[in-house]
Amino acid sequence: MKTRIIAGLILFALSLGGLNASPRDRILMDFDWKFALGHAGDPRRDFNHGTAYFTYLAKAGYGDGPAAANFDDRSWRPLDLPHDWVAELPFAPNASHSHGYKTVGYAFPEYSVGWYRKHFVVEEKERGRRFFLEFDGVFRNARVWVNGFYCGNEPSGYTSFGFDITEYLNFGGSNVIAVRVDASLEEGWFYEGAGIYRHVWLTSTKPLYVPQYGTFVRSELRDNDAAVYITTEVRNKYQENTSFRILNIIKDREGREVARTHSVEYTLRPQEGESYDAVIEVEKPRLWDIDDPYLYSVESCILLGDTTTDIYTTSFGIRTIEWTADKGFFLNGRHVKLKGTNNHQNHAGVGSAMPDALIEWRLGRLKAMGCNAYRTAHYPPSPALLDAADRMGILVLCENRLMGTTDQVLDYLRRLIIRDRNHPSIIAWSIGNEEWAIENNERGAAMATLMQDYAKLFDNTRPINAAVSGSWGRGISSVVELMGYNYLFHGNTDLHHERFPWQFSVGTEEGSTNTTRGIYEDDPEKQYLAAYDRDTPSGFFAIRKGWQHYAARDYLAGMFIWTGFDYRGEPTPFRYPSVVSYFGMYDLCGFPKDNVYYLKSWWTNEEVLHILPHWNWQGREGEPIDVWVYSNMDEVELFLNNKSLGRKTMEKNSYLSWEVPFKPGSIKAVAFKDGKKRLVKVVETTGKGDSLKLEADKTIIKADRMDLAVVTVKVIDNKGRTVPDAANLVSFDISGPARIIGVGNGDPTSLEPDQFVPQYKRIKPGNWKAHKAEGIDVDEAVRAEFDAVSWEAAFQIKGLEPGSQPELTVYKGSFTLTQEDIKGQVTWLFNSIATGQSVYLNGELIAKSLSDSYNRHSLRFDPAMLKVGDNHLVILGYPLVKQNIWDEMNTDPGEILIYHAAPQWQRKTFNGLAQVIIQSDGEPGDIVLKAKGEKLKASELRIEAR
Ligand code: GAL
Repeated sequence: MKTRIIAGLILFALSLGGLNASPRDRILMDFDWKFALGHAGDPRRDFNHGTAYFTYLAKAGYGDGPAAANFDDRSWRPLDLPHDWVAELPFAPNASHSHGYKTVGYAFPEYSVGWYRKHFVVEEKERGRRFFLEFDGVFRNARVWVNGFYCGNEPSGYTSFGFDITEYLNFGGSNVIAVRVDASLEEGWFYEGAGIYRHVWLTSTKPLYVPQYGTFVRSELRDNDAAVYITTEVRNKYQENTSFRILNIIKDREGREVARTHSVEYTLRPQEGESYDAVIEVEKPRLWDIDDPYLYSVESCILLGDTTTDIYTTSFGIRTIEWTADKGFFLNGRHVKLKGTNNHQNHAGVGSAMPDALIEWRLGRLKAMGCNAYRTAHYPPSPALLDAADRMGILVLCENRLMGTTDQVLDYLRRLIIRDRNHPSIIAWSIGNEEWAIENNERGAAMATLMQDYAKLFDNTRPINAAVSGSWGRGISSVVELMGYNYLFHGNTDLHHERFPWQFSVGTEEGSTNTTRGIYEDDPEKQYLAAYDRDTPSGFFAIRKGWQHYAARDYLAGMFIWTGFDYRGEPTPFRYPSVVSYFGMYDLCGFPKDNVYYLKSWWTNEEVLHILPHWNWQGREGEPIDVWVYSNMDEVELFLNNKSLGRKTMEKNSYLSWEVPFKPGSIKAVAFKDGKKRLVKVVETTGKGDSLKLEADKTIIKADRMDLAVVTVKVIDNKGRTVPDAANLVSFDISGPARIIGVGNGDPTSLEPDQFVPQYKRIKPGNWKAHKAEGIDVDEAVRAEFDAVSWEAAFQIKGLEPGSQPELTVYKGSFTLTQEDIKGQVTWLFNSIATGQSVYLNGELIAKSLSDSYNRHSLRFDPAMLKVGDNHLVILGYPLVKQNIWDEMNTDPGEILIYHAAPQWQRKTFNGLAQVIIQSDGEPGDIVLKAKGEKLKASELRIEAR
C-alpha cells in the first residue's frame, strides 16, 4: 500500500517536471489584500452580493458579487493585514459607548461590513498537496470564499478558524480569497474593531499530515528528568488505506536534537484521522521559567516508508505548575505571586490590528512594571500574544469568550484549548467572566461544572477558572476550581476561602480606577481625572489597597489589575466625547501613568523613586499641592527649592505624601536605604515648549514589512525638559522604506483621527443608452451636449445570440463629480462591453480600438477634461456575440475610481507627548521621520530597516 502511493507520487512528479516535495509549507498571507466597505442592510451597496438568481448557498462555486472569482476589485484599496477599519472611522455621539463612540455597529450599516479579497498563484507543482487557509481571528462573522466556492462562516470575532481549500484551488493558475466581515453585532462591551485584524496563513502538506493544532505536548518532572508526553493527530487524505509511523524528535532552543522516539506502524483509512500517544524522556531539562523562558520544540515526523510526509513542529516548555488552596501558585516548585494585568487587544493608532512587534512591545512595558502575568480579558487572544508570552516569560490566564453548554457554544472552549494548550505560559483556563445571569445561581453552578469537566477532556494539566463579580459562596463561585474574585468591594475573600478551603483563588480583576496621564486635578468639564491612586466614587479600591490585600494573603495566588493599558471604549465614568477608558496603568499609547511607579516599586527588585505631580502650577503660587512619592527605599526626604520638607519612612506596599505650597522651581526627593542615600529625583517647573523631540524604542528594525518602531514625540523646553501640559499640533512626514500606521496621544477625549489613509471613492457611470451607428450622425452623438433621451436603454440583453452579425453601436452614459472629486485622480476601470471600442469623455476621444481580449482597461482621465456635475461617456463598438447560447457577455462597463492620496499625518500632543508608529514596508534602507509643530523647532529621527 505504502509503496504504491510513493510510486504514484514519483510518476506524477516525473510527468510534471518536479512536485513540491517539502513536507509542509506555511506562508504568511498578510500582504497585498484589497479592501472595500460593503453594506450591512442594502445589497445594492454591498456589491449586489447574495442577489444572483443562484447564490453561493444554491450552487457550489456560485459566490456572487465580490465572492465571485472574476469580480473586478481594481477600485478597492490595497492594504496589508492586520487591518482594523474601525481605526479609520469617525466618532459620533450616538454611536456605541462601550465601543468608544466609533461609527460601527447596527446603527451604522454603511460602516459595518467590510470585504477583503486577495489574489494568489498556486503553481502546478503543488498539485497533489493539501492546502489549508488559516485565520488567526477576524472580527466578526466572517464568510469566506475561495474562487467563488463558499468555505464557511465563523461568527466568533476571536476564535481562530480555517478550511481545507484544496479542491477549490486552481493549480498552475491564479486564485482569489474573498472574505465578507460583518461587525454589525458586538460581542464585547469594549472596543473590538472590525476586519481581518490577525494573521492569515496558507499551509500546504502532503495528503498524510498532522492537522492544525494536531499535537498536545505536556511533561512531568521526575527528579531531574522530564517525561514528555506527545499526542499527535494524523489524517489521511490519500484515497487508499495508508500505513505510517510517527517519529517524534525533541530539539533544544538551538535546534539540537535532545531525544527521539519512533512509533509502531499505524494505518488510517481514507479521510480518517486518529491521535497517537508517545512519551520521551528528557534528561535534566532546562525548565521554562519567567526568568528563563526556555523553549524546546518537538518535530512530529510522519513517515511513509522511508519518506517523511510531514514535519509538524510544536514549541513547548518543560515546567511544572502547582496551584494550592492555601499557599497560592508555584512554578517549578517555587512560589510565584501573580502580578498581572487584564488587557484587551487594541492600541492607539492601530485599533485592534496590532502587529506582532507591537504586541511584544506592550508585553515589554508590562514586564518593565513588574508584571509576570496577563489575563486575556475576555476572549481568546492572538496566537502572537501567546508566542510572545512564551518567549518573554509571562504567565497567562487564557479566557474563553462566552459561557454556554450546548455543543455549539462549548465547541469554542474546545477550540481555544486545543489551539493553545502547548503554550507553557498558560497556567489556567477561564471559562467566563462576570456572567451576571448565572453567576449567583444553580444554573451557573451546573454550567460551570459541565464546562469544567468538558475542558478536562482536552487539557487536564491546568485548573479551570471563572471570574465572579458577586454572590461569592453561591452559584459559579461554589464549584469552580480556581475562584476568580472580581473586585474586593463585592465581598470578603477570607470568608469565602474559609467556606471553600479546597478552592484555589486569584484576583481576576482589581482596580478599575480612573486616571488620566499627566493630569493632577479632576476636571469634570474636560473629562479628565487626576492620576493619584484613589478609590472611585462607585466603590472600586485604589490600586495599592487591592495589592495590599492580595499581598497579605498566601491563599490568594495574586491579582490581575483592571487594566494594564487604557483601551478604546468603556470611558467610565464619562460619556462622549470621552472615547477611551481611564482604567489603565499605562495610557492608550503605553505612556506610563503614575500608578506604574507604585507597582514597579513593589513588583520589581529595581530601586524606584518617583514624584508626582509635575511642578508647573504657574499662577497658583502658595496653593497647597499634594506631592506623592513612590519608592521601595526605606525613607524619603522631600525638598522644595532645596529646602527640606522632612524625611518620612516608607511602609511596605505603600507611598508617601506631603502637602506643598506651590512655588516655582523644583521638588526634589532623596531616597535612603539602610541609612544610605540611594536615589535622587527632581521635578522642575519647565519653560514653555521650544522644540520637538523624537525618540524611538529602537533604531534598527527588520525590513520585513511587519516590524515597527514606536516613536515618542515630546514637546521640550529650551533646557530639554518635557513640558507637562503642552498641547501642540504636530505633523509628520516619513521618507524611506517605511510607512506610518497610526498616531495617538493617550488623551481619552481626543476625537482626532488615528489614521490618515488614502481615499478610494467609486462611482458607477449610469443612464446608459444605446443606438446603432447607422442612420445617426455619430460625430454629433458623441458630443457631450447631445441628449440621447430618445434612445433605448443599453445592455438589456447579455450578448447577441451565437452567429449574429454585430453592428457598430453607440453607447452613451454619464457620471457626476463633485468639486472634491475633481481634485482627486479620476480613472475609469473600464470593462469591455464591445469589440473595437473607442471611448469618448465629454465629447473627446480618449481611447481607440480597445481590445476586448483583455477585458479590463484602465483609462485615467485628464483633469482638464472633467467638470463638476455631469460628465458624459461614449463607447463606440460592436456588441459582443455569445459563443454558446448559455453564455452571458459582460454588460457592465466598470467603475470610476476617484483616488485621493492620504492627507498629512498629524496629531496634537497631550500633556507633552504623542506617539507615531512606523512600520517597515519590506525594503531595507534609511527611514527618516520628520516632525513639525507650530512655534516649535522641528525634529528628525533616523531609523534603519535591515
Ligand atoms: C468589570 C468587567 C470588565 C470591565 C470592568 C470595568 O466588571 O469584567 O470587563 O468592564 O468591569 O470596571
